[in-house]
Amino acid sequence: MLDSIAAEVSRCTLCPLAHGRVKAVPGEGPATARVMLVGEAPGHHENQQGRPFVGAAGQFLDELLGAAKLSRAEVYITNIVKCRPPGNRDPLPEEIAACSGFLTRQVEALRPNVIVTLGRHSLGRFLPGEPISRVHGRPRRFDDLTVFPMYHPAAALHQPSLRRTLLDDMARLPSVVADAQPVASAPVPAPQVEPPRQLSLF
Ligand code: URA
Repeated sequence: MLDSIAAEVSRCTLCPLAHGRVKAVPGEGPATARVMLVGEAPGHHENQQGRPFVGAAGQFLDELLGAAKLSRAEVYITNIVKCRPPGNRDPLPEEIAACSGFLTRQVEALRPNVIVTLGRHSLGRFLPGEPISRVHGRPRRFDDLTVFPMYHPAAALHQPSLRRTLLDDMARLPSVVADAQPVASAPVPAPQVEPPRQLSLF
């Protein structure tokens, strides 16, 4: 299922980002992953390689995963937007909206115990209106789904004081995963930008 979503992402032309991409970046990780990490959008290196978090932010993400005694091989990593915005600008609301169906389907296919949101754009997809400075490092349960907000790893590259915060938050992830229940039937949160579809947790 994740593979067929990835194949669709690679062919996607739902928004103008498709025209500037070298490779789409659907996401990667085992279908058995209990933890899904959701970043913002591919950057230069990700666009070249078609893989998430392979640049400088990705190196720090690997270090962060180490703080949680996890490796890339155990987690699923994706982004809210699957193609690189020009010049690494923030994704536009319409780009996030165009791409949102893919993330919804990835969450439904993977049924992770915990979704780690990386940065404010990813946080806004799951917990709209919540300031990251207030909610980071605190898991939020919605039935069987646990959302664990964190700052984006790239934020620590620009603001070194956030490095410690990110490491401390990530070190709490194992206990968050241990407390989380396997997701059996919880509805996947629908983004605000989409029309309401069935029962939404948000
Ligand atoms: N930043 C992101 O948010 N995602 C990536 O894949 C790389 C950098």
